[in-house]
Amino acid sequence: MEIRRISIGEAKKRIKNDPELSKMLVKSGWREIALDLDGDGKADVAFSSDSMGRKIDTIAFDLSGNGGYNLYLHDMDGNGIPDTVCLIDDNYEEKVIAFGGEVELGFINLGVKVANLLVAEEHLNKELGISIADLAAYFNLHAQAVLHELEKRENATGIERVYYFLNDVQTYYLATVDGDKPRVRPFGTILLDDGKLYIQTGKVKDVSKQIAANPNFEICAFMDGSWLRISGKLVEDDNRELKVKMLEKMPSLKAMYSADDDNTQILALTEAKATFYSFTGEPEVIEF
Ligand SMILES: Cc1cc2nc3c(=O)[nH]c(=O)nc-3n(C[C@H](O)[C@H](O)[C@H](O)COP(=O)(O)O)c2cc1C
Repeated sequence: MEIRRISIGEAKKRIKNDPELSKMLVKSGWREIALDLDGDGKADVAFSSDSMGRKIDTIAFDLSGNGGYNLYLHDMDGNGIPDTVCLIDDNYEEKVIAFGGEVELGFINLGVKVANLLVAEEHLNKELGISIADLAAYFNLHAQAVLHELEKRENATGIERVYYFLNDVQTYYLATVDGDKPRVRPFGTILLDDGKLYIQTGKVKDVSKQIAANPNFEICAFMDGSWLRISGKLVEDDNRELKVKMLEKMPSLKAMYSADDDNTQILALTEAKATFYSFTGEPEVIEF
């Protein structure tokens, strides 16, 4: 990558002639140009020249937004690439936090990445007709959706909290009673509908027959340092609409089940006591 050094005079001229950049120009002295990037009327970045006033050798940033510069990038060896990073502490003392070839390499890599992004944008534009701005908007939209989902989980209480845990863990373990023997197997179906929790199975399975003979069950699941145990009774709900909703929520089931196949079985969790445990806190009980 070719790095061209720019003189302070040339930089000033460019900034003054560029309508966008000139809006950012706060101050332009003999050896310094200060720019206001966030448009609050105060400078947040400054470029300073060497003692001859010819070449830019320092970039300073106002990280705290209080009008003082606290991060400095210096180009000590004059090759056009910053090689020294200094921080100004609360007592206005300058501390060197990194210097040397590694720092230069870091800046070169950063420069290459920025250059690659620009090349990528050209490619995106030409081949796919989308811009980096489109991509950013797309990611932003998804980030919003993710934040919304996280918020829902943070605010969830009662049966909703139990639902999100079983939904997010993806695999929980369902225990039933077979005569006087326990039986346990992995399960993954879960639906919250009208304030009730449902799971799904096939009537042909042993699990279904065990529940028909003895509805007592326990579910156990572990995720992110906490675990959930639910005990209660499983009761069949033959409502067709529920079967449709379950299959819609978990489309992979459609390969094996349909709402009218006489096999699909929806079971409601009733008389349930759900307990959340962790190594650090007290157990929390939710009954539904
Ligand atoms: C990750 C995972 C999730 C599963 N989820 C379900 C489910 O929600 N419902 C179901 O009937 N079977 C599910 N199964 C299949 C059952 O575990 C399997 O059919 C089991 O043998 C049923 O128990 P049983 O043999 O006592 O009838 C799942 C299997 C795995 C590996």
